[in-house]
Amino acid sequence: MLERTGLLEGDASAEEVVVAYHERTKHHFHRYADALGYMDWATQPDPFRRYAGADLVRLPLPKAGRPLPYWQLYTSTSVPPMPLSLESVSLFFRYALSLTAWKQSGDTTWPLRANPSSGNLHPTEGYAVLPAIDQIGDAAAVYHYAPREHALERRAVLDAKRWAELTEPFPDSSFLVGLSSVHWREAWKYGERAFRYCQHDVGHALASLRIAAAALGWRLVLQGSVSDGTFSSLLGLDRDEDFAAAEREEADLLALILPDFAAPHLTESKPLTAHGGGVLWQGRANTLSPAHSVEWPVIDAVAQATRRCASASIKDDFSGFPSEDELFGTPIRQGLLTAERAILGRRSAVAMDGSTAISRATFFRMLARLMPIQERRTMPWDAIPWRPRIHLGLFVHRVDGLAPGLYALVRDPDKVELLKRVMHSEFCWQRVPDCPPGLPLYLLQEGDCRALATTVSCGQDIAGDGAFSLAMIADYRDSLAMYGSGFYRNLFWEAGMVGQVLYLEAEEAGVRATGIGCYFDDPVHAAFGIVSREWQSFYHFTVGGPVEDRRLTTLPAYNFEEEQ
Ligand SMILES: Cc1cc2nc3c(=O)[nH]c(=O)nc-3n(C[C@H](O)[C@H](O)[C@H](O)COP(=O)(O)O)c2cc1C
Repeated sequence: MLERTGLLEGDASAEEVVVAYHERTKHHFHRYADALGYMDWATQPDPFRRYAGADLVRLPLPKAGRPLPYWQLYTSTSVPPMPLSLESVSLFFRYALSLTAWKQSGDTTWPLRANPSSGNLHPTEGYAVLPAIDQIGDAAAVYHYAPREHALERRAVLDAKRWAELTEPFPDSSFLVGLSSVHWREAWKYGERAFRYCQHDVGHALASLRIAAAALGWRLVLQGSVSDGTFSSLLGLDRDEDFAAAEREEADLLALILPDFAAPHLTESKPLTAHGGGVLWQGRANTLSPAHSVEWPVIDAVAQATRRCASASIKDDFSGFPSEDELFGTPIRQGLLTAERAILGRRSAVAMDGSTAISRATFFRMLARLMPIQERRTMPWDAIPWRPRIHLGLFVHRVDGLAPGLYALVRDPDKVELLKRVMHSEFCWQRVPDCPPGLPLYLLQEGDCRALATTVSCGQDIAGDGAFSLAMIADYRDSLAMYGSGFYRNLFWEAGMVGQVLYLEAEEAGVRATGIGCYFDDPVHAAFGIVSREWQSFYHFTVGGPVEDRRLTTLPAYNFEEEQ
């Protein structure tokens, strides 16, 4: 079967499989990446995984969470850490992965969540490995997060010895969170390109987890050196007996949450071991679709080619990065929006008004939030250990006092010269006047690029009608060569994290953003003069004044009175 994909013929290396997948799943003007081509409603996947037979621990929903100002999320060392408890675990999942609204149109309702998802299909599942916590469980356990119920499903109880083994490298009261993907949920609609979207969604969810942790005064560190085999074993994703015919989940990432700031300043992965004994499993996964009318073997092939073995942690050096003052001018220490409103109120714009402009200061601040500062001290960039591999090619339409045109934000200042050589030779690479000295923002070419932005984003008007839109250009082949083929996933995660920050920053600025997974790959490259296949666009985004769809009714995410 896999030979038919053209990706695993002969003895192709993992990197060759990745590159072939990426090329094959490009959208072209004359041909979209392979997909079913129509909506097969009879096999529409259930967006909610449940484990029948697993104990359900309901999490309380406080009406008002933390009265934390939004800006304080980014100075998280100043937020007093909440102790680990039923309430704090509940808030953590509420901010990271919960439902935030139901939408209604006629007789149809559908839920929306704190984390966005391509096509609102939500392939990402969340897990936690928690110690004994009063009112959650009197022993350490593995839990699956059930967003519709805002509850934890207890998948496995760990005996004291196993918990001690597992957490031995970590400070007291830390715990693990994991993310996995049900590829089928995205493939059902988007076919072969779906693996990309699943990884974008994981990136958004990773940032969402990091931001939720920041709101509670906690830290999050990606555990990048754990093998996918170990990780699947830890969360029970490898248990054939619990899945039977149900759709399997692909292990994506595992992260450590450190609720206690007094704990040693852990910044890297530590060894974790797969379960041997001492674990009692419960629950059977539900089947999400009654049938799969079509399979997409290239997704299995690229998933296989990007699985990680146990490896050394990445230890990139961040010494050349700007300081907070150099990035922001005066660091932002005010604003009326609360973190909770930004997180729970985040929404994608379905249309942009084509008229709202943002100020230069807002534009600069949004972009500054996308930069890791010296020593990786800014949230959410402190969660990942690699130097930025995603740079922005910006289509600026309506930023007061800034000429419309193409711009670049080079998120790793060391890559400026390289990008100059990769892009059109006639670009002027002029530093933007009055922008903070640490912000590597350059004008490339003045001009009205609204039509161009729309065209390359699969003709979607949101890209031309916003205040600005952008392509996330990845230093792709060099990343794979340096960190291995599994890093293909990380590039999408980084892009998703950039997107999640833009979503919240848009809320803060009183505008809205939208992720754009549908774009014509090579025409985007051509717009910036990128000929080399070494650099590729990994995601698009738009930010601007939204047009609300008044035909839709918004309903609360949970019915507090009924459920509590
Ligand atoms: C990876 C990704 C790709 C997306 N691509 C598009 C797109 O091409 N066009 C679009 O209008 N919306 C796109 N969206 C927005 C989703 O449709 C939106 O997140 C989803 O409907 C849920 O709504 P919410 O973000 O308001 O929670 C994308 C979102 C993500 C995360």
